[in-house]
Amino acid sequence: MASGMFRAATQQWSSRTLRARPAPRIMNYGSASLFGDLQCITKLLANELIAFWEPDQLGQIGSNPLKEPPTITKDSITVGGKTYKVDQATNVTTTILEKTTRQLFQIPTHPIAIIKDLIASTFPDFKHYQSFSPVVTTKQNFDDLCFAKDHPGRAATDTYYINEKIMLRTHTSAHQLQVLTEADKVLVTADVYRRDEIDASHYPVFHQMEGAELFDTKTAVDVIRKQIATDTAQHSKSIHTTDITVITDKNPKQDCHDQAAMLATADHLKYSLNKMVRNLFSHEKNLTVRWIDAQFPFTSPSWEMEILYKGKWLEVLGCGVIKQDILNNAGKPDKIGWAFGLGLERLALVLFGIPDIRLFWSQDERFLHQFEPSKIQKFKAFSKYPPCFKDITFWSNEDFHENNFCEVVRDVAGDIVEDVRMIDEFTHPKTKKCSVCYRINYRSMDRNVTNVEINEIQDRLREEVVRRMKVELR
Ligand code: DAH
Repeated sequence: MASGMFRAATQQWSSRTLRARPAPRIMNYGSASLFGDLQCITKLLANELIAFWEPDQLGQIGSNPLKEPPTITKDSITVGGKTYKVDQATNVTTTILEKTTRQLFQIPTHPIAIIKDLIASTFPDFKHYQSFSPVVTTKQNFDDLCFAKDHPGRAATDTYYINEKIMLRTHTSAHQLQVLTEADKVLVTADVYRRDEIDASHYPVFHQMEGAELFDTKTAVDVIRKQIATDTAQHSKSIHTTDITVITDKNPKQDCHDQAAMLATADHLKYSLNKMVRNLFSHEKNLTVRWIDAQFPFTSPSWEMEILYKGKWLEVLGCGVIKQDILNNAGKPDKIGWAFGLGLERLALVLFGIPDIRLFWSQDERFLHQFEPSKIQKFKAFSKYPPCFKDITFWSNEDFHENNFCEVVRDVAGDIVEDVRMIDEFTHPKTKKCSVCYRINYRSMDRNVTNVEINEIQDRLREEVVRRMKVELR
C-alpha cells in the first residue's frame, strides 16, 4: 500500500481513508522494476513507446474482443484484440490480464451484476456504458481528470502499466470525459485494476460504477428545485441523514460557479444518491446515512457517503461537483454537474454476506448457482476448508515494496492465497539491513489443500522472490 495514495481498504480512492490507513512498513517509491523476465526484456526496449494502437480507438466493443485470451510476448502485449508495445514501465502480468476476459458484471446471476442492476434501476433514463476496454491512456485515467503530475496514484507500485502511456484503468472515472461529451446523464460500469496487498477485502481487480448528471447552468436552480419538490416517492423521509459537510477553502466551491447553482447541484446529488441507497438497502428499516467532506482531483466540492451498517460506518461512494475544466473539455461549458463513483464489491460483500472477495471470481457452481437476477439473498457458505500457513523471511532492499511482493505471490500461487501479512520486521544493529517475515495464509475456497502441494508452491515462491525482487532469503 503506497502512502499518499487515496485508497481505502474497501477499494475506493479517498482522501480520508488514506489518512486512516497505516503508513507503509518498508518501502520507497519509484521502483517500477521487480518484474522478472518481463522487466529485463522491457529494459531493453526503454524509450521505445506505444505504436500499434491509437488511444481514440477506445470505445464500446461490438463483438467483444475482450473475451479473447490476452497474450504477452517479449515485446508486445495483446489484450482486448489490440496489441501494445512493452517498455521499461510495463508491470502488468498474465495473471492480471487474464481477468479482463471474465466480465463478471455481465453475468446476470452474479452478485456484482445484481448490485449493478439495482443501482442502475434508480437511474432509468441514464445512458449506461458497460463495454469499455480496461486499457486506457494515462491521459484518460489521470490527466483528463486533473490529477497532478506527481500524484501518488500514478506510482508503478499502485498501477498496472502496459507501457509508459498505456495502462489498465484504476477507476471508471477514466471514461468520464468521453461519456460526458456524448450525454448529460451517464452511468459507466467496468472492471478496474489496482496493485495492492492481499487479504479478504482486497483483490487486484474489482468493479466500479460511475454516474454523472449535468444541468444547464442558467436553469439549474429552478429545474432542480422543481424536481425535488415534486418527487412523490419521498424516499428521504425514510432515511436518517446526517450532513456534516461544510464548504470552506479546504473543500471549496469552484470560482467559476454561481453559488446558488452549485448548491442546487449538490442538493440534487445528495437527493439522487440517498434515493439510490434507499433502494439498495430496502430491507433496512432505519437506514442511516452520513455525508462527509472529501477530496478528489476531479470534483470540488467533494464528498463521501457512508451508511451505518451493523453498527459501523461503511464508506459507500465518493462524489462531488464536476471540475468545470472537464466539462469545458467535453464541449459543455454552459453546464454544471455532479458525479459519483462506487465500488461494487464492497456493497456486494455486505449485502450478500460474502466473507471473502476471492469468491466473486470462483467458478464453483456452488457459488454461481446460489443467486438469481435482481434479488439480494444471503450467501450460503458451502464449506470452510482448513488453512495452511507458511512464513518467508528475507533481507529486504531499498527497492522493496509490499505491493510488488504481493504481485509475485499472486503470480505464483493465484487465488489459493487468503492473505499475506507481515509478522516480523527488524533492522540489524550493525549492518542496518532490514529483515522482514511475511506469513502467507493458504486456503482454497472449494477444496482441501495438501501440505505437499503448498510446500511446492512455497518453494517456487521462495525462488521467484529471490529472482524477481533480488532479496536475500534467511
Ligand atoms: N474515482 C474515485 C475512486 O476510484 C471515485 C469517485 C469519486 C468518482 C468522486 C467520482 C467522483 O465520479 O465524483 O475512488
